[in-house]
Amino acid sequence: MNKSVIYPGSFDPVTLGHLDIIIRASKMFDHVVVAVLRNVAKDKPSFTVEERIELLREATKDLDNIEVVSFDGLLAEYAKKRNITTLVKGLRAVSDFEYEFQMALTNKMLNPDLETVFLTTSSKNMYLSSSMVKQVASLGGDISSFVPSCVLDRIVDRLSAKE
Ligand code: COA
Repeated sequence: MNKSVIYPGSFDPVTLGHLDIIIRASKMFDHVVVAVLRNVAKDKPSFTVEERIELLREATKDLDNIEVVSFDGLLAEYAKKRNITTLVKGLRAVSDFEYEFQMALTNKMLNPDLETVFLTTSSKNMYLSSSMVKQVASLGGDISSFVPSCVLDRIVDRLSAKE
């Protein structure tokens, strides 16, 4: 059976934490759809959806079973449309659990065929988040251990120009 999975998120921008989940999912599934949310509830994203897609494509260019797309509306509907019945999410700390549990149950209510698989984030990425990367970069800090090296310069250029 050819098994596909969706890894959804806002990826504003991609971090090594996201890449770690993508690489591990790419070994577990035949095809990984990295889906960038278009209708972001978070205000003022630092990167446009197209830029986030570009950064993700660059960061995953050495993996041959990754597709990077954007989606709008409900994730449960998008999965149905793509005929995909598994979502993968990374769990960083216990604090992520309640929110992730709520999302997984909501998605299952909306699309009963949809299962959510959680991968525990590697310990070195436990504390990472896109906001943290943005804050460190905007204050002139070194983010080279937080984001993929092939997209580091582009992320630094954009973020250090802000604030
Ligand atoms: N390593 C490092 N950081 C990680 C990470 C990992 N493995 N996984 C998540 N993060 C960080 C992200 O960078 C982000 O950081 P930020 O808040 O500083 O920007 C934060 O964790 C949250 O991740 P995000 O990508 O914003 O995902 P989310 O868990 O909030 O959910 C969607 C995003 C797209 C999955 C969700 O909003 C969605 O499904 N939306 C569609 C609408 C819908 O269907 N709603 C009903 C379902 S509840």
